[in-house]
Amino acid sequence: MTDQPGAARSPGVTYQELLEADTHPVPDVLRLEHNVFESDEDIPTSRYTSREWHELEKKNLWSRVWQYACRTDEIPEPGDHYIYEITDRTYLVIRTETGEIKAFPNACLHRGRRLKDYDGRCSEIRCAFHGFAWQLNGELKDVPAKWDFPHVEAESFSLPECAVGEWAGFVFINPDKDAQPFDEYVAGLAEQFEVWDLGNRYKEAHVAKVVPCNWKIAQEAFCEAYHVNGTHPQIMGYLGDTNSQVDVWDNFARVISPGGTPSPLLDYDVSEDEMMATMLDVRHDQESPIKVPEGATMRAVSAAMSRERWREFAGDAVDQMSDAEMMDSIDYTLFPNFHPWGAFNRIVYRFRPNGDDHRTAIMECIFLAPYTGEKPAPAPVHWLEEHEVFSDAEELGMLGKVFDQDLFNMPRVQQGLESTHKPGVTLANYQESKVRWLHKLFTEWVEEN
Ligand SMILES: [Fe+2]
Repeated sequence: MTDQPGAARSPGVTYQELLEADTHPVPDVLRLEHNVFESDEDIPTSRYTSREWHELEKKNLWSRVWQYACRTDEIPEPGDHYIYEITDRTYLVIRTETGEIKAFPNACLHRGRRLKDYDGRCSEIRCAFHGFAWQLNGELKDVPAKWDFPHVEAESFSLPECAVGEWAGFVFINPDKDAQPFDEYVAGLAEQFEVWDLGNRYKEAHVAKVVPCNWKIAQEAFCEAYHVNGTHPQIMGYLGDTNSQVDVWDNFARVISPGGTPSPLLDYDVSEDEMMATMLDVRHDQESPIKVPEGATMRAVSAAMSRERWREFAGDAVDQMSDAEMMDSIDYTLFPNFHPWGAFNRIVYRFRPNGDDHRTAIMECIFLAPYTGEKPAPAPVHWLEEHEVFSDAEELGMLGKVFDQDLFNMPRVQQGLESTHKPGVTLANYQESKVRWLHKLFTEWVEEN
């Protein structure tokens, strides 16, 4: 069977075998496996380099796909609004008097000025240019010198609406009012997240940075673990990179990289103690503060430590969590650019073009943390300056250093793709099948419409 394309798997323990050894019951969702070989054809480099492809993305993707805009608790009260921008478009996401969330193109119906320049709270939506004003629900409220506009009738001068959807505290918008209903779009992902309630978290951190590459280059650097050996060799001692499990469904996919098991690419046996020392970032000439007891595994010991760390914030719910949920990177993607991690990991990524520039992107890392007691206020966006790196964002902890390694590649990938004489990039059949899946959907959305 394994000589069928896409059927081969890494030597070493499989993810499902690791789950068998878990010290706690593993949720059914982690037992699912779904990967169908699609193709081994190259992906055209023009998708990352050409202006034409970017224009097609604007026309066929961003104008009609569901996209994460903000968290519901970022606009808790009537009049609270959040400006969501994608390519050259700006949208106003606002809480109305009734508590409903609406979204409008952020543009005055008079002469077109953008209506809101900043996030904030307002009692009405009034244009700063000539003073046309709308109610929070988008109904026309006021036209200064109305006598000069007998042709403007309130009934036909409401702000046009985008479609809005909510899931687990995330607000999504779709510029296309007639899009597939959001509840349908998110159903498959939502079902898999039933065991992990991201709605019951608060936004603990939110770091954003403009990165010098096409947004898909940035995104795809987080869609496989194959790059770990080249880019993050320091974590190979405890991360099962090439034996990650990759699952692909219709509009969402996931990569699960097991923690507490060494990379099969290492050519020596890694002891349980070495795995622990590597994860704790202990130098070779230092003693590891934590030893793995005889007969125990680093994976189970480390998961137990993690449960105790989280108990303070999440209460005894941690006792229900499997080693897998404490240790593994369970990185989901909802097409096209939303990346919530499953289980106890707090990460959510978002990638998008930086304004209308197809050679720079915005990368964001959000931490959604559990809490006990009153819900803390959501963290504001911490924008890193051009000269700053992710490890300057202390709130990201150890992760910042890892991101900086990823970022180091990004402009170099862009430059290489601009220069290469090869018309396409080549993908691994299994390990990079999430990237393959993204491009299958890009073909459907961007090229076949
Ligand atoms: Fe990475």
